[in-house]
Amino acid sequence: FSLKKHNTFGIEAKAKQFVAVHSSEELKTILQENKSQKKFILGGGSNMLLTKDIDALVIHIDLKGKKIIEENDDFVWVESQAGESWHEFVLWTINQNFGGLENMSLIPGNVGTTPVQNIGAYGTEIKDTFVSCESMTIENQEIKTFTKEECQFGYRESVFKNESKDKYVITSVVFKLTKRNHKINTSYGDITSELEKNNITNPTLKDVSNAVIAIRQSKLPDPKQLGNSGSFFKNPILLKSDFEKIHQQFPEMKYYDVSETEVKVPAGWLIEQAGFKGKRFGDAGIHKNQALVLVNYGNATGQEILNISKDIQATIFKTFGIHIEAEVNVI
Ligand code: EPU
Repeated sequence: FSLKKHNTFGIEAKAKQFVAVHSSEELKTILQENKSQKKFILGGGSNMLLTKDIDALVIHIDLKGKKIIEENDDFVWVESQAGESWHEFVLWTINQNFGGLENMSLIPGNVGTTPVQNIGAYGTEIKDTFVSCESMTIENQEIKTFTKEECQFGYRESVFKNESKDKYVITSVVFKLTKRNHKINTSYGDITSELEKNNITNPTLKDVSNAVIAIRQSKLPDPKQLGNSGSFFKNPILLKSDFEKIHQQFPEMKYYDVSETEVKVPAGWLIEQAGFKGKRFGDAGIHKNQALVLVNYGNATGQEILNISKDIQATIFKTFGIHIEAEVNVI
């Protein structure tokens, strides 16, 4: 079974077996019936690089449905099943004037995988509105709810990338959104200028969402047209003391304070400075508008993209003494 249509990089790789599940009951049955089989859980395929065929039963999580589960005058609790498209879910909340997810418009992928790496963009992360998620254990099909604390969210990090890795299938997620007194966040540079361009001074949730969509479309490739997985690397976080030494040598290096003792350096800047932006090697390359995004022009293999990523890592380390880590899950 070809997985080309099931990963946003558009990499050709095969699954030994493939099944899509549409309800928790179906998921439970499949897990029970295949107890001794190797299993691989697949959501929207938007954060992985397939470098080989998958010698396992691939279970595609396709649970649909979204609803309001509770509300008061100020807040609403909405629940989405894991297989809903993230962006469609975000638009559904904005169309009802529910606030909190607008800055994360147009992020590819499905709702169920958003907690895994605490997706974020333009000054917001899902941990800001996340309440809980429901999951099923792969081993015994028990239902477990994870609270926000239990998810141990960090920058593109959660318990699901660490001690709970490969143990649970997330089946639904609950968010708490505002019904009024929305916390409009336009502090992220580009949003303000995008709104100004359209003479918007008092933006609605929809205005912010539209601004984010316009910015993303201007620099991030649409996976439907050009295979990619968003940012391939995380922005490295350095101790201020280490950073200061590097900064003396490269005074033009961009950075943001993340705490009293740490700074974050934009990996896109490092990659661009190292000369990789827009480069193409066969069908694999580095996007021309955003150096943090690796792209597949058509028939690149996962291994080719992985090799470029290693070359980038080594060059960045040699040039700046900074190690950049992949954000994408390399399979
Ligand atoms: N930059 C360059 N050259 C480039 C790209 C970026 O110099 O080719 C510089 C920019 O000038 C800017 C800085 O790097 O000063 C930051 O760039 P940008 O605002 O595009 O954001 P980013 O740090 O590259 C992060 C997230 C994105 C998210 C944006 C906006 C990570 C790993 N990535 O990218 O998330 O959309 O901020 O909030 O944190 C993703 O995770 O897949 C993703 C796309």
